[in-house]
Amino acid sequence: MVDLSVNLCGINLKNPVVPASGTFGFGLELADSFDLNVLGGISLKGTTQEPRYGNPTPRVAECPGGMINSVGLQNPGIDALVGQKVPALRKVYDGCVIANISGFSVDEYRHCCSKANDCDGIDIVEVNISCPNVHNGGMAFGTSPQAAAEVTKAVKEVCTAKPVFIKLSPNVTDIVAIARACEDAGADGLTLVNTFLGMRIDIKQRKPVIANTMGGYSGRAVFPIALRMVYQVAHACKIPVMGCGGVASAADVIEMMMAGATAVQVGAENLRNPFACPEIIAALPAKLTELGIESIKDIISIV
Ligand code: FUM
Repeated sequence: MVDLSVNLCGINLKNPVVPASGTFGFGLELADSFDLNVLGGISLKGTTQEPRYGNPTPRVAECPGGMINSVGLQNPGIDALVGQKVPALRKVYDGCVIANISGFSVDEYRHCCSKANDCDGIDIVEVNISCPNVHNGGMAFGTSPQAAAEVTKAVKEVCTAKPVFIKLSPNVTDIVAIARACEDAGADGLTLVNTFLGMRIDIKQRKPVIANTMGGYSGRAVFPIALRMVYQVAHACKIPVMGCGGVASAADVIEMMMAGATAVQVGAENLRNPFACPEIIAALPAKLTELGIESIKDIISIV
């Protein structure tokens, strides 16, 4: 019997597979499709202080090996998250619930994280300083070590009861410098990477496919770059990493963990195949057995 469990900042996950924020709604949307309890954790849609309608359409563009999205943090706001979405999810799900918090100011991050900290159903607060689809917020805080540290310090002051993971952007020259700044400012863990800023042009109409011109590129094509960043950060920092970016199979999960991830988020693949996560989890024991691995936690950072 292969042991799939991992420990993330003292929280036991039955397996390391977690649908990534923005690819799985608030969880309940998929509850009629499969038993959510097979999932190690769920990262919920990025949430801001006020409800947001998001960006104008078109918001998605297909690409070889992936897709571009520019949703623009559409969400019902923090009060709906803690008052309705999480309590509803908790009626059907007993695994690790991760609130993904975004913002346009340090005060907004602090306000939302404080509410997430007070919400019983939330286990981990994932602070999104890497959304590429909004102006003056999101990624603006994740591209300088100083700004990343400022947000981390502010949210750590209010998140006294929950581990704080900072979700990093790959759209930087030195992700290790940002990761170290977050660790030094008190982060309990890191999630990486969010999407890569990209663009498509409709050559007949001579205009960008995405209404907002650019968006975040994700999908299988980004896996080797995400893996490289996970490897670099996991070897430079002591805090645990949730690896994310192009993961689409049990072998990808194993590779991410060998690179240094303690848990692994599946993003764009959920949009192509809503059953991606349960299929990956079901495939893990045979793949690990084939490799002679009895406990998945043994492979973390093995490379
Ligand atoms: O546009 C979006 O809502 C994307 C968010 C993110 O990439 O964090």
